[in-house]
Amino acid sequence: MKILGIETSCDETGVAVYDPHGGIVAEGLYSQLDLHARFGGVVPELASRDHIAKLTPMIRGVLADGGMELSDLDGIAYTAGPGLVGALMVGGSLATGLAMGLGKPVIPVHHMEAHLLAAMLEDEPPSFPFVALLVSGGHSLLVETRGLGDYAILGETLDDAAGEAFDKVARLLSLPYPGGPPLAALAEHGDPEAFRFPRPMLRKGLNFSFSGLKTAVRLALERAAGNGGRLSEQLRADVAASFQAAAVDTLVEKCLRACDETGLDRLVIAGGVGANIKLRQQLKARGGKQGITVHYPRQSLCTDNGAMIALTGWHRRHEAAESPAIVARPRWPLDELRPPPVSAAGLN
Ligand code: KG4
Ligand code: ZN
Repeated sequence: MKILGIETSCDETGVAVYDPHGGIVAEGLYSQLDLHARFGGVVPELASRDHIAKLTPMIRGVLADGGMELSDLDGIAYTAGPGLVGALMVGGSLATGLAMGLGKPVIPVHHMEAHLLAAMLEDEPPSFPFVALLVSGGHSLLVETRGLGDYAILGETLDDAAGEAFDKVARLLSLPYPGGPPLAALAEHGDPEAFRFPRPMLRKGLNFSFSGLKTAVRLALERAAGNGGRLSEQLRADVAASFQAAAVDTLVEKCLRACDETGLDRLVIAGGVGANIKLRQQLKARGGKQGITVHYPRQSLCTDNGAMIALTGWHRRHEAAESPAIVARPRWPLDELRPPPVSAAGLN
């Protein structure tokens, strides 16, 4: 069985074909980074237009790479939300049109559920139940994942998402958008203990808050600039390293506490911030000591991609319909999802 996955929820056009027997058959990804860079964030209208330009040739390219024709596909999955509504509509419209033309089922997919399942594309997939840390540019969630579609939100951010905090602090350090990767690179040369930034709400429940940490970084930079004008390279690196240490510390602490509270010993990391090397190292080290197994998808499966959409489409294949309405939901809480029906119309 071959499922085509289409991801267009934000600034990445992702396409992949997934086969439950062979894994990822072929995939393609186009990042709109350069398009949005000079605006310091994603411009929704530009994102939609670019998905329109890239999507069809990318589907052709992915099919050709996998030695497939459109008629080889058994179903088409697309990101139906949450995300930018115009961008979602591009993927949803093409997926639905294609499925109608081919007479194949189409499956709307929840973007965050797809992130949550992405680790299952790896050689040693996690089995249910597990705690998932979902940290991206728009979300920071701790989810008790009991089974497919059985999610309880244990904690979430009260203000900035983890990735957003990396992006905003990177901006304070005059680094390009998205700030996570350049900030992590700069932090390599810095001393993580040079500044003692706050670890907000460390001992209070499982919710996160990153805006106080961001403000502390801003004040430290303003103080340093006030003293001598231009900031030295070393000081910038020290600030980056100290911020990263505080953010990672907070995320790790909450993950371990969530495992403790739920009694689960499997932790799955998902979303763009999951690519952060320090986060991975610390979770492995500190989680290991508590007997927790940590699963990470490879970096390219942490960030937005078509393969996780195709995989989720396969898991939800029983919900496929032959000619449904196009679904585009900018807001869509993860815990509204339900387990798929065991037997229903659609693909078997
Ligand atoms: O999941 P994602 O690709 O897109 C969504 O937001 O859905 O996540 C992007 C976020 C950005 O905020 C980016 O700065 C952050 O992930 N990010 C990182 C790293 N790589 C990407 N943050 C910290 N360290 C990284 N290595
Ligand atoms: Zn994402």
